[in-house]
Amino acid sequence: MAELPGEVRAFLATKGEDGVDRGLGTLPSSELGEGDVVVRVAFSSVNYKDALATIPKGQVARISPLVPGIDLAGTVVEGAGEGDEVLAHGHDLGVAHHGGYAEYARVPADWVVPLPEGMNHRQAMAIGTAGFTAALAVARLERHGVQPGDGPVLVTGATGGVGSTAVSILAARGYEVVASTGKDAREYLDSLGAAEVIGRDDVAGDGKPLGKQRWAAAVDSVGGAVLAGLFPQIRYGGAVAATGLTAGIAVETTVMPFILRSVALLGIDSVETPAEERTEIWRRLADDLRPPQLDDAIAREISLEELEPALDAILEGGLTGRTVVRVAT
Ligand SMILES: NC(=O)c1ccc[n+]([C@@H]2O[C@H](COP(=O)([O-])OP(=O)(O)OC[C@H]3O[C@@H](n4cnc5c(N)ncnc54)[C@H](OP(=O)(O)O)[C@@H]3O)[C@@H](O)[C@H]2O)c1
Repeated sequence: MAELPGEVRAFLATKGEDGVDRGLGTLPSSELGEGDVVVRVAFSSVNYKDALATIPKGQVARISPLVPGIDLAGTVVEGAGEGDEVLAHGHDLGVAHHGGYAEYARVPADWVVPLPEGMNHRQAMAIGTAGFTAALAVARLERHGVQPGDGPVLVTGATGGVGSTAVSILAARGYEVVASTGKDAREYLDSLGAAEVIGRDDVAGDGKPLGKQRWAAAVDSVGGAVLAGLFPQIRYGGAVAATGLTAGIAVETTVMPFILRSVALLGIDSVETPAEERTEIWRRLADDLRPPQLDDAIAREISLEELEPALDAILEGGLTGRTVVRVAT
């Protein structure tokens, strides 16, 4: 069994009277939290939820101080499976239990997933929670019956973490992917395999309960009015996988697309995905759902020291692709 240092290096978010203090510090290893497995963290990543966990209005952090980081990949150094390469995400990680932005994480054994064969720690975090969510969305759409060749599939928030990986996974599987973005990002989205890039305003529709049937399916990471505007534009029998809320949580719609066109709304949750499905999606992420651009094209790398501006940028919708955080020194 490896000896844990008395203190571990960590990025901490601590609630104070005037807001949340964020920054690099140390945490006694005795305070890493409950769990039967200790993982030496190699990489974590930056997700929208991580940024919410570090701001007063985020309503995500449930302990203080908190080590944020809703996902991590590393090596088990204590507990069952010592020496195993693993990853973990969701559950209470980085929310109500210290997460991936620390050298070590102590977690319940049933939170860890074996690192799939053919994938290293960095690649696993280039996918991270966002990529897992995108893969789950694609798997659920296909279980619903959507197939390549059915027609254009729309991805909203396409330059974001969920969006980028969704574009990449769908394009690699032979779908005609239309990427909607608020950024000037044609070159980037082309490189991920988008067949067409359109602006955010181009997905709004005409506001009628039933509109022109443009999309066989959609992966939406935006929510709000954008999601509401998609249902009238989905083809008969198609589906929308709803994953996120960057544009808001209220969705005003009518029943018409659902009862006259058999359109389905598929809710995608990565946090409590049952262990069997979680492991299977990760296995497939190393195989038939693997995004081809797992390295520099889709993910840039930062250190814990560079985390704060990245957290601020993702809140502004300003990050493109995925950001992996090198935790091991
Ligand atoms: N269901 C789950 O289990 C799960 C898992 C992971 C993430 N999520 C959620 O999914 C969403 C995306 O997460 P992420 O980590 O991919 O975040 P992200 O990297 O910030 O991506 C979000 C993208 O949404 C677009 N966007 C931002 N603000 C917008 C606005 N006001 N109106 C329209 N579009 C806007 C931007 O893309 P463009 O500039 O390209 O338009 C942005 O890059 C978040 O809400 C997150 O909480 C949910």
